[in-house]
Amino acid sequence: MSCTIVVGAQWGDEGKGKIIDILASDADIIVRYQGGNNAGHTVVIGDNEFILHLIPSGILHKGKTCIIGNGVVIDPDALLKEIEMLRKKGVKVDGNLLISEAAHVILPYHKVIDKRRGAEIGTTGRGIGPCYVDKMARCGIRMADLVNEDSLRRKLQANLQDSAEFDCEAIYKQYLEYGKKMKKYLANVPIVLSKAMAKKKRILFEGAQGTLLDVDHGTYPYVTSSNATAGGALTGTGVGPTAINKVIGVVKAYTTRVGEGPFPTQFKDELMEKIRSKGKEFGATTGRPRRCGWFDAIIVRHAVIVNGLSEIVVTKLDVLDETENIKVCTGYKYKGKTYKDFPADIDVLSGCEPVYEDHKGWMSDTTSVKKYKDLPKNAKAYLNRLSELLDVKIGMVSVGSKRRQAFKTK
Ligand code: GDP
Ligand code: IMO
Ligand code: MG
Repeated sequence: MSCTIVVGAQWGDEGKGKIIDILASDADIIVRYQGGNNAGHTVVIGDNEFILHLIPSGILHKGKTCIIGNGVVIDPDALLKEIEMLRKKGVKVDGNLLISEAAHVILPYHKVIDKRRGAEIGTTGRGIGPCYVDKMARCGIRMADLVNEDSLRRKLQANLQDSAEFDCEAIYKQYLEYGKKMKKYLANVPIVLSKAMAKKKRILFEGAQGTLLDVDHGTYPYVTSSNATAGGALTGTGVGPTAINKVIGVVKAYTTRVGEGPFPTQFKDELMEKIRSKGKEFGATTGRPRRCGWFDAIIVRHAVIVNGLSEIVVTKLDVLDETENIKVCTGYKYKGKTYKDFPADIDVLSGCEPVYEDHKGWMSDTTSVKKYKDLPKNAKAYLNRLSELLDVKIGMVSVGSKRRQAFKTK
């Protein structure tokens, strides 16, 4: 039995889509476990770029089952558009895509509330937070309700009884229509997964966002509203902890963040433009420019701990190819104290002075390197130092957006 969880170990956009696509060739089932269409996972195959928001990044391989777990919040309109986009590009989605009956549904009012209140956090405006609020408040609507007329009507009426803003009947009709279109994908996911495990199928759990955006372990309140960390893979799909063999963290060779919130190592100078344009750091979902900064070993060490990472994959090493002097943050100085561990107090993160160590760049093109041993000496020294600071091994390195631009370290 092989069950592997893949998580983002920074603030999202680490290149999870690309890495899941690579790992999916050795898996039978790929399951998304949390988040919604706030995620944008990019997979590049030849000259084709696919941006997936809800459907697992394994969908581009033939013969794999892709599952959307109960921990995901689903905007039916966004999902149906994604299915259509894939069909148009010749990707099979019928018979190989399953959706949990217990996944919560994003409704028009969630998006309106998110757009009204999400500015301070810099949310994606997709209704994610308000949908999870309803889930926890026990007034959410689930996929199973979309195929049960009485239940859908009753729940919508209860939720909208004091609202003059939303037309309950129109929403009811529209969502019933969505239910008809999605009925064929609905499944009892815990049963599907337990049967697959009994048959020794290989399962890959795909996280969205990243550890520092996790509602419990991230830079709260500047986080998303779900558990992006490894624990979310269990509650978000219905498997137990004893099933998991491996947890892989995906990290960029530097750091980025979209939206608001503290970011101690953010570039202050022209490096912001240089790295942003070389790394094409613009949001895959909203198109917003991503904030960029040096690698922060404090946040990634936190990710190693809270996810129990077995190994990490370092992506976008090539983006640093032309950077002469590279810095890595190894501590935060705040009010006379040096922090070596990730602090829960957000004031430390927003007010601290990062402690940096300096590394010499390699100043050569790594995009066609095929083996770890062929990386420039300074690039290997940089990676070795990251592994030492994080106390975790590096399993794979990525040097470009294409499938072939990645290699194992051993
Ligand atoms: P995700 O949300 O973690 O799946 O990441 P995104 O897809 O939002 O952002 C990662 C971006 O970096 C995408 O445009 C990828 O095509 C690209 N990418 C992934 N790995 C590499 C890499 O090693 N080098 C470069 N230059 N780009 C990469
Ligand atoms: P992937 O899966 C990067 C950020 C938003 C905002 C905060 C809360 O592609 O790595 P939300 O709409 O979730 O309530 O917004 O989280 N955010 C992401 N940042 N990558 C993502 O997903 C993100 N999903 C949400 O920018 O700061
Ligand atoms: Mg992304």
